[in-house]
Amino acid sequence: ATERTLSIIKPDATKRNLTGKVVSKFEDAGLRVVASKRIHLSPAQAGAFYAEHSERPFYGELVEFMSSEPVVVQVLEGENAIAKNREVMGATDPAEAAEGTIRKDFALSKGENSVHGSDSKESAEREIAFFFSGLELVG
Ligand code: CMP
Repeated sequence: ATERTLSIIKPDATKRNLTGKVVSKFEDAGLRVVASKRIHLSPAQAGAFYAEHSERPFYGELVEFMSSEPVVVQVLEGENAIAKNREVMGATDPAEAAEGTIRKDFALSKGENSVHGSDSKESAEREIAFFFSGLELVG
């Protein structure tokens, strides 16, 4: 089925001017960018977005990193977009990511791993609504 998922190009990637290269990987896989904006999250906003991880030992580091530099938040649309996006990103830890994936090619570490993608339908709905209004989604 056609799905939408929320993608974030993280500070380590925007800082290294990799936005276009990351988007190309998604587009080459058949995903379409139907909404996109570059924003600089406050620590409070980053903390709210990652609230489900608030008890994890890396939460403070994650919030600090995600608010350190601008990010590009996008809605990607396509057939099985949620799974496809995760396949193109590769494993969270770049050391475990498959050849040709974004994290294999660009990520620096488990934390500075270049991209975020929704992990389920429920997350995708919540995460898209966190960043975009219906008016901003142009299919
Ligand atoms: P993301 O998909 O954005 O969702 C939660 C993030 O936490 C994850 O990607 C990683 O970047 C980050 N993360 C997971 N494990 C660690 C870790 N051990 N140290 C730092 N960050 C982590």
